[in-house]
Amino acid sequence: MRKVTLEQVFTHPITQKYLKRSGIAHAVAVAEYAYIFAKRFDIDSDHATKAGLLHDVGHYTWYRDGEWDYDLYKENDIHAIKGASRAHKLLIRIGEDRHVAKKIAVAILLHTDSYLPKGELKLEPLQQVVTLADEADEETGGNHHYKEISETSALERIRALDKQINMEIKAESEKIV
Ligand SMILES: [Fe+2]
Ligand SMILES: [Fe+2]
Repeated sequence: MRKVTLEQVFTHPITQKYLKRSGIAHAVAVAEYAYIFAKRFDIDSDHATKAGLLHDVGHYTWYRDGEWDYDLYKENDIHAIKGASRAHKLLIRIGEDRHVAKKIAVAILLHTDSYLPKGELKLEPLQQVVTLADEADEETGGNHHYKEISETSALERIRALDKQINMEIKAESEKIV
């Protein structure tokens, strides 16, 4: 049984505040890709979509002369570290299971290779799913952070994911009975 829905995570003011910086359209797209990859890897789609949605909540912008500087950002980036911590705090606050919150936070921590030794880390399936989902929506020069989406459309897509996940959980529980 899910303790927290994706909609509850998405509509929380803290999520909205931070996702507006890194792009709501990107967050929603990554949650959707995470759902698809979760099926492929046969992992929990509830955890994957939440991690996908929240993966960039640690973002901040790096400006040079009023323009966002992608090189400066790359050089000084710790958004995954900040994101893991913010996501964990938020999930616990809204009543998520502690084990689930930790798993999601670690997947967020490892979703980028900007500070990690490439190829030396063996990612677990959830961590791989979040990384792949993020890459699937990536555009050159960080443009994926600037895609637009209406509030209504974002919420509809989040609700559609919730519906799918709830249906799966229901089907699973009926199988067990
Ligand atoms: Fe990221
Ligand atoms: Fe991202």
